[in-house]
Amino acid sequence: MKYSRRLDSLPQYPFAKLDSILREKKARGVDLISFGIGDPDLPPPDFVNEELRQALKTPGSHNYPSSEGESFFRKAVAEWYRRRFNVELNPDTDVCALIGSKEGIANVIRAFVNPGEQVLTPNPSYPVYEHGAALLNEAHPRSFNLRDTEGFRPNLENIAKEDFKFLFLNYPNNPTSAVVDEDFLQQVSRLADEKGALICYDNAYSELTFKGYKAPSILQVPGGMDVAIEFHSCSKTFSMAGYRIGFAAGNPEIIKGLKAIKSQVDSGPPKFIQQAAARALLSYVNSNPPKEVLDRLSVYERRFMILTNGLKEIGYNASMPLGTFYLWVNVGENSESFASKLLERDVVVTPGTAFGSEGDGYVRFSLTVPDISIEEALVRMRDALG
Ligand SMILES: Cc1ncc(COP(=O)(O)O)c(C=O)c1O
Repeated sequence: MKYSRRLDSLPQYPFAKLDSILREKKARGVDLISFGIGDPDLPPPDFVNEELRQALKTPGSHNYPSSEGESFFRKAVAEWYRRRFNVELNPDTDVCALIGSKEGIANVIRAFVNPGEQVLTPNPSYPVYEHGAALLNEAHPRSFNLRDTEGFRPNLENIAKEDFKFLFLNYPNNPTSAVVDEDFLQQVSRLADEKGALICYDNAYSELTFKGYKAPSILQVPGGMDVAIEFHSCSKTFSMAGYRIGFAAGNPEIIKGLKAIKSQVDSGPPKFIQQAAARALLSYVNSNPPKEVLDRLSVYERRFMILTNGLKEIGYNASMPLGTFYLWVNVGENSESFASKLLERDVVVTPGTAFGSEGDGYVRFSLTVPDISIEEALVRMRDALG
């Protein structure tokens, strides 16, 4: 059987490769410690699961949802934006529910980009921008580098020289953990406006921030709403990764395009999942952020301390970032050979090259591992690297 050229043009999804190595090791009963995938180990807050149980009893919750999301869910998103970013959204026109933000990121391109047209993606980055969004839609991805010396932010002067239809940006950033301020977002919005281009702003980690830093929304800066669609996820904030729910908000014309594509290919997240996610978002009404989110942040912060201190003792430069639950470490050698050395001791990290060529020399640790396992991993790493 012959696959399409489109599929043949795609490399394997990096985490699929990692997943199969892990499955094989687990099948052999190996005691693996995996910092590989950003899949929260902490469970969702109890009140979210309680809402889910209630939602399952709601008459009609088994019926098809609408692909744009139920009205109550879109209203909860708008309320969350008001509380969190002081941004007013029309829940009917400016919000769309997603079956996880991953599908929205891949689908929005189909509404605006013709085959061969250029989209700009960061290098390194979450692989879905280049593969799922650009290549699957036969767009032409062109990457711009994120470098440590520039705070892992794009050089806007270089971007201004490019012609492009869509620009992907993601802060707090996966994999580098870099963050930006409102001023940067305003400059980017102005640039997109001058170029007649659109911005896909991935804010999946907006709630995972530390040391008093608050991640801004691109929709809160002047001009942002004219050019951007912003993606959020309940996967990280509320540990709801397996529930598959996220949402997009922003310019109503972009949202309209996304909804039009989605109406042809999916029927939205299950109503009972939307009900649980709406409850999670509305917890910001009483307390911003709610205790359950703060509790998660202190767990991640403690894990960062253990890992960064341990890595420093081994001789690596590592410090607690302002956002995400990832630690991006310059290992001073080829990232795949470094990751292989750790894998031999049954410690899994993601080689930086999984996020693009500029990731070489780095590995990413996902702090979705309990303290005791981090300590055990440090013992193994000392052995493997000493
Ligand atoms: C930067 C970024 N965006 C989006 C996603 C997708 O999240 P979701 O679970 O909402 O599809 C991820 C998941 O790891 C991510 O790292």
